[in-house]
Amino acid sequence: MSVSEGSPSDIADAGLAEAGRARIGWAQRSMPVLRLITGTFASERPLSGLTVAACLHVTAETACLVQALRAGGASVFLAASNPLSTQDEVAAALAADGVAVFARAGVDRLTYDEHIHNALDSGPDLVVDDGGDLVNTLHAQRPELLAAVRGGCESTVTGVIRLRRMAEEGALAFPAVAADATTTKRMFDSTCGTGQSVIDGVLRATNILLAGRVVVVAGFGDCGRGIAEAARGLGAQVIVTEVNPVRALDAVLRGFRVLPMAQAAPVGELFITATGSRDVIAAGHLPALRDGAILANAGHFDVEIDVRALTDTAVKLTREVRPHTDEYLLPDGRRLLLLAEGRVVNLVAAEGNPPQVMDVTFASQALVLSWLARAEALPAGVHAVPPAIDEQIARLTLESSGTRIDALTPAQQEYLSSWRQTP
Ligand code: ADE
Repeated sequence: MSVSEGSPSDIADAGLAEAGRARIGWAQRSMPVLRLITGTFASERPLSGLTVAACLHVTAETACLVQALRAGGASVFLAASNPLSTQDEVAAALAADGVAVFARAGVDRLTYDEHIHNALDSGPDLVVDDGGDLVNTLHAQRPELLAAVRGGCESTVTGVIRLRRMAEEGALAFPAVAADATTTKRMFDSTCGTGQSVIDGVLRATNILLAGRVVVVAGFGDCGRGIAEAARGLGAQVIVTEVNPVRALDAVLRGFRVLPMAQAAPVGELFITATGSRDVIAAGHLPALRDGAILANAGHFDVEIDVRALTDTAVKLTREVRPHTDEYLLPDGRRLLLLAEGRVVNLVAAEGNPPQVMDVTFASQALVLSWLARAEALPAGVHAVPPAIDEQIARLTLESSGTRIDALTPAQQEYLSSWRQTP
């Protein structure tokens, strides 16, 4: 644990701060909405005197959110939400600016957990989570801190699923806002952002050509759809696997071939999981995979590809045949390539979603936290992002790109508000 400007931190190298500042500055240029909110927060101080414990991917974009929260008056304690996604330069820059940061790229499970405890040691009033590990730790291991927590905000589908299970069992002790499902987040972050950044991660790790390649995308939620469309846009032949009939039908109607994984396994050349579930590529699929098949995961946790089965089956593991690409040699001579150790490929092998995308996601979370700070008598449980915040974010995003839209005329308003008017 190091100390920088009075804040306890655990970072890889304080000497990286300047490089981190440059990276954050580049992200800031493409985050106009968050910049605007930071300005408003600086004058209105909606988070004055509050402590925020955050468990997020420690990236340049996250640093911009942290700066917004601090401008609003909050003290921020930041832990990494994935052991491999931390940008060490960014962690150093934040620590140098007095943020308590607990994040080093490549830490083991024990240190990862310790870092979450370090952030919780702040005794937070508000929490921000990405995947649910902080909220889980808070409830399971630090219940004495729960009474002080006014509310929380969760940004991933995976984390929100966990929150809903907790709420159903009556275990969730405070109001938690599901920031995964706003219309703006689904459009921007899940589909466009993840679609692009996952392909970016695969290409940086492998440098393969996608045109003409058979790509199997497991899961056709917003993220899976984005990935499938991005791969098709680059000329890949995309097969989709699903367990949900509505989503499978959606994939069919959008022109994708839909197959069960057992049938996709022998034909796929690149597999990308985006389901939020586990064992999507399991031991039973390994015998069918082609020599040279590439396996990547886009889901939050590293459980979608059964890495243990792969390790147990392989006779030889060659780490890093390229950065973020490990080769598993099977007894029959086939080689399987696993990207980013089966962890979230866009954040490990690339830089996650671009700043323009995270602008929308984080602007919404900043406003949610400011709303939670003011909200009175909000019951414990999972709450939706207030629609007014979603609309405000959409309006600000349009304005920041110079896009103008029409307004209803009084006659149109009257027509739409009355059932008595006939055309
Ligand atoms: N999640 C996806 N992309 C991200 C990014 N660039 N920063 C933080 N969290 C992310």
